[in-house]
Amino acid sequence: MSPAPTQLIDSSQPELKSAAQCLKAGGLVAFPTETVYGLGADAENPEALAKLYAVKGRPTHHPVIVHVASAQQLAQWAVDIPEGAQVLAEAFWPGPLTLILKRSSRVPDAVTGGQDTVGIRVPDHPVALALLQTFGGGVAAPSANRFGRLSPTTAQHVQQDLGEDVDVILDGGPCQVGVESTIVAFREGRPVILRPGLITEDQIQQALQAASRGFEPQSGILANAPTSTVSRAPGTLASHYAPRTPLRLFSPSELPVPLADLQPQDRIGVLAVSEAVVLAFPAGSVEKWVEMPNKPEDYARLLYATLRDLDALGLSCIWVERVPADAPWAAVVDRLTRAAFVG
Ligand code: TXA
Ligand code: MG
Repeated sequence: MSPAPTQLIDSSQPELKSAAQCLKAGGLVAFPTETVYGLGADAENPEALAKLYAVKGRPTHHPVIVHVASAQQLAQWAVDIPEGAQVLAEAFWPGPLTLILKRSSRVPDAVTGGQDTVGIRVPDHPVALALLQTFGGGVAAPSANRFGRLSPTTAQHVQQDLGEDVDVILDGGPCQVGVESTIVAFREGRPVILRPGLITEDQIQQALQAASRGFEPQSGILANAPTSTVSRAPGTLASHYAPRTPLRLFSPSELPVPLADLQPQDRIGVLAVSEAVVLAFPAGSVEKWVEMPNKPEDYARLLYATLRDLDALGLSCIWVERVPADAPWAAVVDRLTRAAFVG
């Protein structure tokens, strides 16, 4: 039997203590964060980590993020911390930002896939923070989905995906951010974004400038990560974050060509942001319409849950209207592009 999600309204509930005990005993605890649900294990217990990788179906050389209760714990898990990392930790934690830093001796190989760096994050969710505080140590947690699939944004998604392979599911309601954290690494002290998220390049730049502690004006963020340097980050694999149903991206001006290929037996779902799109499809050709919000944060919050719902309908294809290519949309563009990739 899969564990029913334990609803946590009040973080002083006894369930929280038993979840922390479960982690101490080497168990797996799924918990809410502001981004997506995580599947947690004691970051210092290699056996628990082996179980975590097995349940995820994730290759063992792909590193996982260590979640801690506060920025004060950073020095326990990382060494040679660049000034910029300290600034970003102070500016954005708790929050949807993961810092890739040189690991301390406390971090086992199983967490980092043998790399000399570790990903660290303080999540901004009362249940996650209460769990981390009660547990005391670091919780290694990838998103609580099977490898390569959509990340869960509700406790029910976790239950559907992982079933009895998880010991406890803490329910903290639907995730407010909805896409995974922004990942920032450092190359010779300069930040480089490995995965876009709610915290944008601009915000990172501004935080660094505001702190102006040892930053030369010319030493801003490195444009983006060359794939070769981040190939071990699974979130950077082209086919990651995909629904089972094929997904194609379109802009209204491109529509006539693919629409001409539409077969009568095709069952399609459409995610649209503009009204013009509705008129472009022949009457009756779309089985399921979803009108998506036109603000990037709102779109991101709903994206994975919407794709899951559509996935469940057994459609032949999900057509997604392209969103703007500008900076506030970077995280959504990134996830949609990966979801549309045919590998
Ligand atoms: O929002 C999030 O980050 C969520 C919640 C649960 O915190 N977690 C998450 O974990 O998305 P996961 O495992 O699905 O993705 C973590 C990403 C992967 O792309 C992984 O390769 C990268 O972080 N990562 C972790 N440690 C790394 C390291 N040392 N170097 C480079 N990338 C790393
Ligand atoms: Mg993931």
